[in-house]
Amino acid sequence: MIRQLLYRSGQLYEFTVPDMVRLLLRSRAYNARHGIGGMLLWQDGLFMQLLEGPAAAVDALYARIAADPRHCEVRLMVRAERTAPLLPGWHMAWSEASLDGEAPAFDGLDTDATALALLEGARSDRVAAAMRDFLHGAPVPAGGLGCARVMERVL
Ligand SMILES: Cc1cc2nc3c(=O)[nH]c(=O)nc-3n(C[C@H](O)[C@H](O)[C@H](O)COP(=O)(O)O)c2cc1C
Repeated sequence: MIRQLLYRSGQLYEFTVPDMVRLLLRSRAYNARHGIGGMLLWQDGLFMQLLEGPAAAVDALYARIAADPRHCEVRLMVRAERTAPLLPGWHMAWSEASLDGEAPAFDGLDTDATALALLEGARSDRVAAAMRDFLHGAPVPAGGLGCARVMERVL
């Protein structure tokens, strides 16, 4: 069995494209060493991240991520055990939401199209559904929006 966590948060630090590239490269290296996979999604200052892998490793990583001062209002949405990962083979896939007509904020960072296609295809999976909704700009009732307000005050 593997553990699966899904959380969302709001960014508190203004990530540049190189910042995000560095975060993903470091994450992929760490996650690969610990047998962890998943996907990081970004939509207009909000993150959603899927973490999958051995229970202890996933819990330890989540504790580190939740304490990272670059985001806030980290809300755990799903904590589940499953026999196989939703996204096998990715150590941290990436996609930002492409909302109508808006230029990508992280231009040059490659969206993992195969991971997105897997999410689209997993029609009866609630985690995939939450990730699809997030990418399609569904309203976020709580979790992260307060960070946008903090950022506005700081900037
Ligand atoms: C939104 C977000 C997602 C992150 N995802 C990961 C990840 O999947 N793997 C990882 O090793 N670090 C990830 N990090 C970075 C960790 O929070 C942390 O900086 C890193 O593990 C180094 O931890 P340390 O400073 O305690 O050594 C993420 C950070 C943020 C803000």
